[in-house]
Amino acid sequence: KKRIGILTSGGDCAGLNAVIRAVVHHAMGTYGWEVVGIREATHGLMTRPPQVMEFELDKLDSLLLMGGTILGTTNKGDPFAFPMGDGTLRDRSQEIIDGYHSLGLDALIGIGGDGSLAILRRLAQQGGINLVGIPKTIDNDVGATEVSIGFDTATNIATEALDRLHFTAASHNRVMILEVMGRDAGHIALAAGIAGGADIILIPEIPYQMENVCQKIRQRQEMGKNFCLVMVSEAVRTEVGDQLTELKAAGEDRLGGIGKYLAEQIALKTGAETRVTVLGHIQRGGMPSPVDRLLGSAFGVAAVDLIAQGKYDQMVAWQNRQIVSVPIAEAINTYRSVDPEETLVKTARGLGICLGD
Ligand code: F6P
Repeated sequence: KKRIGILTSGGDCAGLNAVIRAVVHHAMGTYGWEVVGIREATHGLMTRPPQVMEFELDKLDSLLLMGGTILGTTNKGDPFAFPMGDGTLRDRSQEIIDGYHSLGLDALIGIGGDGSLAILRRLAQQGGINLVGIPKTIDNDVGATEVSIGFDTATNIATEALDRLHFTAASHNRVMILEVMGRDAGHIALAAGIAGGADIILIPEIPYQMENVCQKIRQRQEMGKNFCLVMVSEAVRTEVGDQLTELKAAGEDRLGGIGKYLAEQIALKTGAETRVTVLGHIQRGGMPSPVDRLLGSAFGVAAVDLIAQGKYDQMVAWQNRQIVSVPIAEAINTYRSVDPEETLVKTARGLGICLGD
């Protein structure tokens, strides 16, 4: 009989609770193991005594539908260089490892994005922790898996936002700019932009020229189309050098960096009336989509099966319509950005969507 731990690490997203539910069901229900929920990611293992949550099989009902993570998560810092609050950094990795072993666990399921999985793997190697990873991030940029938990829900929300902007844009003859998340990758912008019928989609993987953007807007004006929908990923930077880097350094890039810049430039260069919406954390909240519930459930079950087989240092992944397992090292060493040759890029071009290049 095994005793396993589970934690959620890094930014939250929809579908995390579906994973937790699946892990508890399969581990406790199928295998008869014990499951210990670790609160607030590795922080729960740093605390003394470790902060944990007990699960009961008959109290999991609404977890499938709940946004966020009941275990909590935190961005307090890298445990190998942990900010102590007085300006100093300290390596607190051993405290986490000791906390883990004090719980008498046989294995740990870590749900995280590429950064969190890299940290968890380092801890596992240093401390002899039997780790299995599950990929989550609305950005969909974890390597070695076609999709991560949270991406589908975020894409649905971004699509709905574009749908809503569509009619107000048409009513007011406006160029509406929607800035969506994606710290370094443009997956949400590309997918939701196509699904929501954007006229222009800008992503960090495809450098754009402002003149091409303005040209598309003018073309639509000439065709008698009185409005335009522009989807832009937060990771896009200005086409001339990078004025937004200064804003970012000042911690202001969440205030509508690139969206605001585009709105100003488009108004200046085309005379169009522009408005900008920054969708922000709305994309991370709310109930998970059916796809994220399915993916979360499938990942959770598969992760427990990996532990049953004694296969560690592996991450569950989605490839070619099925669940597989890959070395965590492979996932964290191959960043998944939008490939300019991929199907969705070709689709956008085929639809006449301006990608700015
Ligand atoms: O990585 C997920 C993500 O939501 C990114 O899309 C976004 O840039 C970032 O996290 C926001 O981080 P925070 O919640 O710390 O503001």
